[in-house]
Amino acid sequence: MRRLAVFASGNGTNFEAIVAACEQKVLDAEVVLMVCDKPNAYVVERAKAHGTPSFIFSPKSYASKADFEHEIIQKLNEAGVELVCLAGYMRLIGDTLLEAYEGRIINIHPSLLPAFKGAHAIEDAFNYGVKVFGVTIHYVNAALDGGKIIAQRAFEYHGNDVEELESMVHATEYPLYIDTIQKLITSDSDK
Ligand code: GAR
Repeated sequence: MRRLAVFASGNGTNFEAIVAACEQKVLDAEVVLMVCDKPNAYVVERAKAHGTPSFIFSPKSYASKADFEHEIIQKLNEAGVELVCLAGYMRLIGDTLLEAYEGRIINIHPSLLPAFKGAHAIEDAFNYGVKVFGVTIHYVNAALDGGKIIAQRAFEYHGNDVEELESMVHATEYPLYIDTIQKLITSDSDK
């Protein structure tokens, strides 16, 4: 597997890290498509800057999730995408896309799953008062932040600054995602 799609909804720092790793040949892959469900998201600018082809859509202009996922599948097929990497794509993947790309969609989540699922995992863990934080990469299924865990990385944080904690989580995310994608690519080409 060498042809990647990255899905994002926001800032896109994980997208940036993955693209940079491909450009620098740290990652033996190419991001052939960026998919974004928020036309104003900063990740759109990042994709332009890197010359990454993008599919940007507004879910509201489709009658159903199945409708926009059919279009996503068409774009993925046209680009020859082999592995879909969700990176801050804040939307549940529906049955249409799951069936088409079963076992080939992975996600990064900023907590040690199964703890702190959802869109505010870092704040939720911080507010709960845990001292061990981390990041999870997992296969995607129909459940929110569900699916088989592929990799996790943990660290301790005893401070009181949620922004500092967020930076530490992000700094943990990028190398873990790149290492994990590289391992998946390598094990796939061994088969
Ligand atoms: C990342 O921290 C990612 O783990 C998280 O969104 C952030 C996106 O940041 N994803 C989730 O919370 C998924 N449930 P980025 O846009 O800068 O890559």
